[in-house]
Amino acid sequence: MSKNENIVWHQASLTKEDRRNLNNHQSFVLWFTGLSGSGKSTVANAVASKLHELSARTYVLDGDNIRHGLNKDLGFSDNDRKENIRRIGEVSKLFVDSGQVVLTAFISPFQEDRALVRGLLDESEFIEVFVKCPIEECEVRDPKGLYVKARQGIIPEFTGISSPYEEPTQPEVTIETNKFSIEECVEQVISYLKEKELV
Ligand code: ADX
Repeated sequence: MSKNENIVWHQASLTKEDRRNLNNHQSFVLWFTGLSGSGKSTVANAVASKLHELSARTYVLDGDNIRHGLNKDLGFSDNDRKENIRRIGEVSKLFVDSGQVVLTAFISPFQEDRALVRGLLDESEFIEVFVKCPIEECEVRDPKGLYVKARQGIIPEFTGISSPYEEPTQPEVTIETNKFSIEECVEQVISYLKEKELV
C-alpha cells in the first residue's frame, strides 16, 4: 500500500497567476550547477541582488546552507546527492508556485537528477545555468580548503576528484567564470532573462 493513499490534494484559493500578477513578474528557477569553487553561490547571489534592484522577489537556496538545516541528514553518497536535489527541486517548485524567482546553487552533479527537477516544472520555469570552470582553476581557488583535503583522501567522494560531475549537455545559459568577471557573468544571465522577457 502506498504511504499516501489516503491523502487528497486540497485546491488552494489563490493561483500561481494571481501571485505573479501581484508581484508584477514571472516566477521561475535559475538552477546554477557546477563544481565546488566554480562560483555558483557568488554569481547566484549577485544575480539575485540585480533582480532585487529590478523589483523582483527573489530567494537563494544554497547547498552549503541548506545542508545545515533541511538537508542536514544527507551526506555525499550518490543516493544522498540524489535526495538532496529531489528535495530542492520540490522546494523550488513551491517557490515558483508562490510567484517568486528562486536561484539555486548546488553542485547537482548528475544529469538525471537535474532532468528530474526540470520535469517538475513548466518549460519556461526551469533555466539551467552551467557555471563552467576547469577543475584546475577550482582547485587553485579552493576557497574552503576542501580540494586539498580531498586530494589527501581526508574527504571521500569529492566531486571532480573521487566522485563524478556530469556536465550539462543543453543548458539554457553557460557562464565561464575563469574567463569573465562576476559582473560580466551576471550580465550574461540578466541578458538571457531579458531576451526571454522574464524580467
Ligand atoms: S550536491 O552534490 O549534493 O549537489 P551540494 O551543492 O549540496 O552538493 O554541496 C556541496 C558543498 O558541500 C560543496 O561546495 C562543499 O563546500 C561541500 N562538500 C563537502 N563534502 C563534499 C564532497 N564530498 N563533494 C562535494 N562537495 C562537498
